[in-house]
Amino acid sequence: MSALAAAQAELVAAARAVREHAYAPYSQFRVGAALRTSAGEIFSGCNVENASYGGTICAERSAVLGMIARAARPSDAGVAWRPRIAQIAVFTDAADLAMPCGLCRQVIAEFEQGAQVIVANPREQRVLSFATLFPEPFVLRAESGEA
Ligand code: THU
Repeated sequence: MSALAAAQAELVAAARAVREHAYAPYSQFRVGAALRTSAGEIFSGCNVENASYGGTICAERSAVLGMIARAARPSDAGVAWRPRIAQIAVFTDAADLAMPCGLCRQVIAEFEQGAQVIVANPREQRVLSFATLFPEPFVLRAESGEA
């Protein structure tokens, strides 16, 4: 197996494992996501549903939240420090491979730089560039420095 294929397999395995933690009593649709940062760290997350459906957090955003909370940061990192997503894998058991939803694409766009997206189920997997999935994200210039 090539190094790239091994790295993809590792991420898909992490997404598959965290999917077991999904809290999905309303849809019964369990999703796991795992991302690798450009620094090589892996963070994973699952969907967490809510009785008020709009409060539901998708697996991909859950993984991003974990990255921001736990990624190693330079000691002088300020509020604008931005880790980069190099790869993100999404795992479901759906018959058709499930793509990240539009809201998650916008959130991933905040932190990616030419990311690779791997969507997988137990039977198949597909690798896409994030730019193909979300070519023109909304961008807002960040204020520099802390108040
Ligand atoms: N879901 C995700 O976790 N990721 C997506 O990209 C799409 C949908 C979750 C949200 C909800 O818990 C369930 O799948 C059904 O929409």
